[in-house]
Amino acid sequence: MSTPQPGILAAAPGFSRYLEFSAVADCNPAPTLAALAARAINEEIVIGLGPGLVQRLGHPVDGLRPLPSLSGPGCEIPSTQADIWFWVRGSDRGWITHKARAFSQMLKGSFRMERSVDGFTFDQGLDLSGYVDGTENPEGDAAFDAGIVQGAGNGMDGSSFVATQQWLHDLDHFDTLSEAERDDTIGRHISNNEEFDEAPASAHVKRTAQESFDPEAFIVRRSMPWADASGEGLMFVAFGKTLDAFEVQLKRMAGLEDGIIDGIFRFTRPISGSYFWCPPVSNGCLDLTAVGL
Ligand code: HEM
Repeated sequence: MSTPQPGILAAAPGFSRYLEFSAVADCNPAPTLAALAARAINEEIVIGLGPGLVQRLGHPVDGLRPLPSLSGPGCEIPSTQADIWFWVRGSDRGWITHKARAFSQMLKGSFRMERSVDGFTFDQGLDLSGYVDGTENPEGDAAFDAGIVQGAGNGMDGSSFVATQQWLHDLDHFDTLSEAERDDTIGRHISNNEEFDEAPASAHVKRTAQESFDPEAFIVRRSMPWADASGEGLMFVAFGKTLDAFEVQLKRMAGLEDGIIDGIFRFTRPISGSYFWCPPVSNGCLDLTAVGL
């Protein structure tokens, strides 16, 4: 029986490295993917395949598509669609570095690294803005139902779709806002993490309220802060049984429903964006039968 990659629904790790690669022209990705499929998959790694790569294999995965670039009134959402995504997770940055090196070496020659971002847990689950991130995340069976494909047959059941976006914060600007203005961008009080009714329609939790969509749009968020010499922000990661729930939320955040853009654009913006399909696990290894391997 196929099961989800265990890192998808596991508790947040202390540290992560997110790696994205693109296939080089004229390469045959099949041998690299076969080598990946021979590796044991545990909680310390989650692997996703992009739409271009899957198409190249000649076996499209229903519902997998590139992340769209969107333009709203005062915000830009880029698509930097890649072909393979690795989420290396753990409690020790040294081991994460070595595992990431091993994956890079496996891909050498056929894939080019496009992005490597190191994430970390801030004070048990805060975004760098200081707000708790993940409060309304579904848990247990609800997380499984929201995040994992079921009833789609062998090779697909147990798989998941993931949206990844690197967001770059402007914390210097955020610091100039009053506490009330900052609370309005999120729609929660930083002092007690409570939602408040008077929050403006632009408040992030009003834009993304999962029950407010028809059908309801639940996603399993597994985002982590990042920081390096280029700046700091949030590596946004959301798993879903399809990509639709994420996409309707993103469109509403960008003001494409009603012209109102999400308050978080006052201090942050996405600088990357990709969709991937995370194959299920069978006998401890990736099950790639859905893509013909
Ligand atoms: C830098 C980018 C982002 C930051 C800092 C951020 C931060 C937050 C915070 C602080 C909350 C409130 C607590 C919680 O329930 O987790 C929240 C809620 C939420 N966010 Fe984000 N978020 C970001 C991007 C996104 C994106 C891109 C999406 C989806 C397109 C999204 C979807 C959600 C959802 C679904 C909720 C829960 C809403 C509810 O049902 O109450 N977030 N986010």
